[in-house]
Amino acid sequence: MLKEVIATRYIAPLREGGSLPGLVEADDLGTYVMKFTGAGQGRKTLVAEVICAELARRLGLRVPGLVTIGLDAVLGLGEPEQQVQDLLRSSGGTNLGMDFLSGALGFDPLAFEVSGEEAGRIVWFDALVNNVDRSWRNPNLLMSQGDLWLIDHGATMIWHHNWPGADASATRSYDASDHALARFRPDVAGAAADLAPRVTEELLAEVTAQVPDAWLVGEPGFDTPDDLRRAYARPLLARAAAVHERVTGIEEGT
Ligand SMILES: Nc1ncnc2c1ncn2[C@@H]1O[C@H](COP(=O)(O)OP(=O)(O)O)[C@@H](O)[C@H]1O
Ligand SMILES: [Mg+2]
Repeated sequence: MLKEVIATRYIAPLREGGSLPGLVEADDLGTYVMKFTGAGQGRKTLVAEVICAELARRLGLRVPGLVTIGLDAVLGLGEPEQQVQDLLRSSGGTNLGMDFLSGALGFDPLAFEVSGEEAGRIVWFDALVNNVDRSWRNPNLLMSQGDLWLIDHGATMIWHHNWPGADASATRSYDASDHALARFRPDVAGAAADLAPRVTEELLAEVTAQVPDAWLVGEPGFDTPDDLRRAYARPLLARAAAVHERVTGIEEGT
């Protein structure tokens, strides 16, 4: 279970992204980047964020800590900006929060160096979850005190938008030619040798268990949240073994 906190103050919107995440303060006095159930794709985006971040964390990649944030929609009433007010008012209940990396810089592929080993691990992971949102135009990587952190996993696992086609969709290749780390000679095969055996049914059960029931209930074709959790685990388990052979568009390191 993710730690649960309650939002006490909306501080400011974070403008770079498309989904208008906000900076909020919570009842544990923590400051979090909050992603709202009422935004765009809503719950599915949040499910993807949790599964990918918790999987990445267990594979040794750096991701900010996650919490769930309870929101009382009345917190939106005082917001002067209409767009923010609408978002808060439509997001009562359970939302997602992540630790705010204060002072972090957006990753610039032309300004920072990354080892082929680290690049390989990240490209391999993105191929596994089919992340289409880590391009050099929009890396969704932060640099904090010399370390790379992965954020924004909302646009992954495209197959969860069409469950009947999920197994077929999960066999597709991953085009990494636009990937933010493509120029660092990512050692994808080396990463696969280390990481793929760690993506087990048990690990995926532990990862998917972190998703709050509130974001899983009512999905057409699934009777219970646990049925849907298993549906999320299946394509990842199937992809893990051989996805490195289906990464296209990069010159691999050795
Ligand atoms: N944990 C974090 N710590 C610091 N800044 C963050 C964090 N998460 C997001 N941001 C900032 O907010 C921006 C938008 O967040 P992101 O998760 O990419 O949302 P979107 O779906 O809108 O692209 C990021 O580009 C980054 O600048
Ligand atoms: Mg983003």
